[in-house]
Amino acid sequence: KRVSLVGAPTDIGAGMRGASMGPEALRVAGIHAALAARVAEVEDRGNLGGPGNPWQKPVSGYRHLPEVVSWNLLAFEALHDVLAAGRLPVLLGGDHCLGIGSIRAAMRHCRETGKHLRVLWLDAHADFNTPAITPSGNLHGMPLACLCGMGPTELVHLAGEPGRLPIEALRLIGVRSVDEGERRLVHESRLEVFDMRFIDEWGMRHTMEQALSGIDENTHLHVSFDVDFLDPDLAPGVGTTVPGGPTYREAQLCMEMIADTGLLGSLDIVELNPALDERNRSALVVVDLVESLFGKSTLMRMG
Ligand code: ARG
Ligand code: MN
Ligand code: MN
Ligand code: MN
Repeated sequence: KRVSLVGAPTDIGAGMRGASMGPEALRVAGIHAALAARVAEVEDRGNLGGPGNPWQKPVSGYRHLPEVVSWNLLAFEALHDVLAAGRLPVLLGGDHCLGIGSIRAAMRHCRETGKHLRVLWLDAHADFNTPAITPSGNLHGMPLACLCGMGPTELVHLAGEPGRLPIEALRLIGVRSVDEGERRLVHESRLEVFDMRFIDEWGMRHTMEQALSGIDENTHLHVSFDVDFLDPDLAPGVGTTVPGGPTYREAQLCMEMIADTGLLGSLDIVELNPALDERNRSALVVVDLVESLFGKSTLMRMG
């Protein structure tokens, strides 16, 4: 595997400033060297250059919609180009609104190569709000709804892309904060959510077996890793912490079981907010987990 890092230094979809510093914090934490130890080759394509954050109030349900569209168009193009070159893109976010462009790129790539897409959304939140139900207007709370066809046309059909992400392609893991209207929409849409209660009762091993069931050699696995997935004791450097997340051990097992499939095709690392971090420790733990996601293990493993 050959990997390309793409930085998207923006907090345009978030309710707090600072995720724009995420790409550099991940580089400082050693993401490049960590990946280089695991894969054949790593290149850093640098940062995308999108609009700044005007820090405005929501307009008809959305904050910064035109800017969010711009950033997602840039991410979509850059990440699709990486995939088309036969490489594995790692998006260094940036806030989670970028999942729209990133997953749209994976969808396009799968359409072009005949692959089957499975999205693993690792997150404390469902990110399934729409303008009618969002409590905040922040677009980082809406990417999954947009991808599934609910949202403004500019985002639902980003870059004029056809179709929508089928609900069946999605697995949400680690969820423990869902807003009132969002809760109903998640239920009605039959979204497959492995919430913290499920993980508590069944353990991470069974959770990942379920989340990965039905995949085969033709599957492209996209992992969208919102750092707030992790327990805040482990990773305090995010804008929307929710207590009671996966522990270090649970998160490691989650990453290892994805690595074992050998099917990882693209990755987002989003919502890291260095302004809220402590001596970059959340970035360091993320890099540690990403090593496991790319196959680092204590012992040699039998096939
Ligand atoms: N559900 C809340 C909202 O819509 C928070 C979303 C947090 N999303 C995230 N990607 N951290 O505003
Ligand atoms: Mn392209
Ligand atoms: Mn989140
Ligand atoms: Mn998220």
